[in-house]
Amino acid sequence: MPSTDRSRKAPEHVAIIMDGNGRWAKARGRPRLFGHQAGARRVSEIVEACPDLGVRYLTIFAFSTENWKRTQAEVSGLMTLFRRYIIKEAQRLLYKGVRVRFIGDRDRLDPKLVKLMDDLESLTAPNDQVNLTIALNYGGRDEVTRATRRMARDVAAGDLDPEAVDAETLSRYLDTRTLPDPDLVIRTSGEARISNFLLWQSAYAEYEFIDTLWPDFTAEKFAEILAGFGRRERRFGAVLV
Ligand code: FPP
Repeated sequence: MPSTDRSRKAPEHVAIIMDGNGRWAKARGRPRLFGHQAGARRVSEIVEACPDLGVRYLTIFAFSTENWKRTQAEVSGLMTLFRRYIIKEAQRLLYKGVRVRFIGDRDRLDPKLVKLMDDLESLTAPNDQVNLTIALNYGGRDEVTRATRRMARDVAAGDLDPEAVDAETLSRYLDTRTLPDPDLVIRTSGEARISNFLLWQSAYAEYEFIDTLWPDFTAEKFAEILAGFGRRERRFGAVLV
């Protein structure tokens, strides 16, 4: 639920749609996967910038429920990249105090990747410096659909009173149940769409659409956007007095 603490300047939770890897690679005459690899290096840089910038939660859109429509070569290249990222970065994330969570439907993912995801979540569970959430095979509609299905099962089993269902109840069934709502959603690469990302959770978020392609997104650019956020007036539907 939205925070109404107006004294807080840095967004507590930033969500990022990392777009533009393909165009970045194309501009260099390289295959799309080259852009995704460069994008993965930016993920590490941005995560590590969070503590200094006062960002406690960072959620990144790594693979959507729609991304399966890409070529088989790109999909399997991305899956390999996610596996390698987890193996290569696990110790560093642990050492840097990052707690990692994954959201999205794990059923369609390779069990070996799911095992790495589960292990990284357990390994980093004691950390609380930065909360990194990676959305993998994630779609906002799919998440709400899965949540509703679980809720319906609980109603059918007599464990949930349908009259008691409110927005708070649904939030507790979502993949993001342990996270605050995002304060700021950033999308790189010039597209002004939300593409099924955190639909329910972003109801009161501020949006920032920037032209920079994700592999060119630096910690300095991130800091600039956060400074701009600090100057915005958030109302949450109310009138400020
Ligand atoms: C969108 O760019 C990007 C993706 C679908 C993949 C995002 C993945 C990464 C940034 C890499 C690694 C992430 C982790 C967590 C290790 P696009 O391919 O749609 O770019 P385009 O619009 O220019 O074609």
